Amino acid sequence: MSTTDGYLPGRVERDYTESIGRPPQPALLAIEAAAIPDGVPILDRAAGRVLAALAANRRRIVEVGTAFGYSTLWMALAQPPGGTIVTIDPDRSRTDQARGWWRQAGIADEQIEVVNRPALEAFAAGADELALAGPFDLLFIDALKHEYQAYLDALRPRLAPGALIVADNVLWSGAVSEPASTRSGAAELRAFNAAVLADPGLIATILPVGDGLLVATVRA
Ligand SMILES: C[S@@+](CC[C@H](N)C(=O)[O-])C[C@H]1O[C@@H](n2cnc3c(N)ncnc32)[C@H](O)[C@@H]1O
Repeated sequence: MSTTDGYLPGRVERDYTESIGRPPQPALLAIEAAAIPDGVPILDRAAGRVLAALAANRRRIVEVGTAFGYSTLWMALAQPPGGTIVTIDPDRSRTDQARGWWRQAGIADEQIEVVNRPALEAFAAGADELALAGPFDLLFIDALKHEYQAYLDALRPRLAPGALIVADNVLWSGAVSEPASTRSGAAELRAFNAAVLADPGLIATILPVGDGLLVATVRA
């Protein structure tokens, strides 16, 4: 059922929204420019703007999948003073480059802690990874698509009441809503989306922004 008579916002509306948004911080533009030639997948800019709005009052953030730190930087720039982010990615060469862009944007090293391990290994390490003890106010998931549910299961007990859960690529270029799709990760993302949206402890939906952004609030 729709109240908009079939109207679907598209590129024109997206360009309009971008045209009235504040210009991205120069380090964000530098990451965008570097990511494409290097073949590093980063968040869609419109999804970055959503993530920033959601991170604005979140003091303790955990992120799974850092890459060049584009999503990390959208959140770091939006956080209140004293806010911190723990971000996980086993690819140290990528996260070392990310640190350079974070510094360029004026983010203090103490605001962002990087854990260079596969996420599930880091979560299982317990006391070895005190940074991951929580509690967290926002969890952002953007790493291996077939592990999304396992990331959430591991971190759910470490989320504060009222915390936000955000996950990127949950529409997977249309593969998730196409039951016949055999694209790697599609079946797992489909199951993840269904589980999160049906979870009585969460208020959740999927925003058709970028490659699909799942947003959920943990009931307080
Ligand atoms: C889509 S990219 C992240 C993009 C980033 N969030 C952004 O928007 O700028 C996915 C990242 O997940 C990382 N990754 C791969 N396996 C992982 C694992 N087991 N745990 C955590 N991160 C992993 C990859 O190295 C890659 O850099």
